[in-house]
Amino acid sequence: MGREILDGSPYLSRLALHPLNTLISAMPAPSIKFLQSATSNAWIEQAIANLDIVLLDHSHCERKAAGVALNLMFRYPSRTRLVRQLTTIAQEELAHFDQVNQWLEHKGIPLAPLAAAPYGAGLRAEIRPQEPDRLLDSLLVAALIEARSHERLGLLGDHCPDRDLAKFYRSLMASEARHYGAYWVLATHYYDRQLVDDRLASLAQVEKQLLANLYPQPRIHS
Ligand SMILES: [Fe+2]
Ligand SMILES: [Fe+2]
Repeated sequence: MGREILDGSPYLSRLALHPLNTLISAMPAPSIKFLQSATSNAWIEQAIANLDIVLLDHSHCERKAAGVALNLMFRYPSRTRLVRQLTTIAQEELAHFDQVNQWLEHKGIPLAPLAAAPYGAGLRAEIRPQEPDRLLDSLLVAALIEARSHERLGLLGDHCPDRDLAKFYRSLMASEARHYGAYWVLATHYYDRQLVDDRLASLAQVEKQLLANLYPQPRIHS
């Protein structure tokens, strides 16, 4: 399971037809349809040259992903479908967090703080403060981050010279794919489909711009 299945998913195909996509510059076509740009070779080279830092950053990403799901459950405790789906995601993200931390331990890398790239804060700044916009934006920002995680873990799985670590990255890809699909499905459950498509295209444009210049420090989302 992986990108091939997602590319064939009917609910991912309409975004490619959105007029905003005609504004996309000549970057390589993304393999994941939520995203409006593909990751550059420069990011892959930077990540592969700094695998220890990327692994440490990955630990932070998994913990934050669990936190996003839990925060939404606390903010919207009466939304039955949201609570059910995000309970699963939070559990999976915590399991990933534990798995990454075991890899860190195996490699003798201690848990330590890392300065975050502007990516997450830049996307969170797009979340409008008033409901019902706030929930829609929160779900779609989470979907975009999960989609980018899926893409980048796949690239690490393809390019990482440590075969066991590469296998581990590939093993996480299917979960991250489910996660971005789940956030998108929740958005379409609570909001009109056209509204979701338009807002997703707009946020994906911001996501692309946030990644336009490679962050000097190696990060999963940089
Ligand atoms: Fe994860
Ligand atoms: Fe995830």
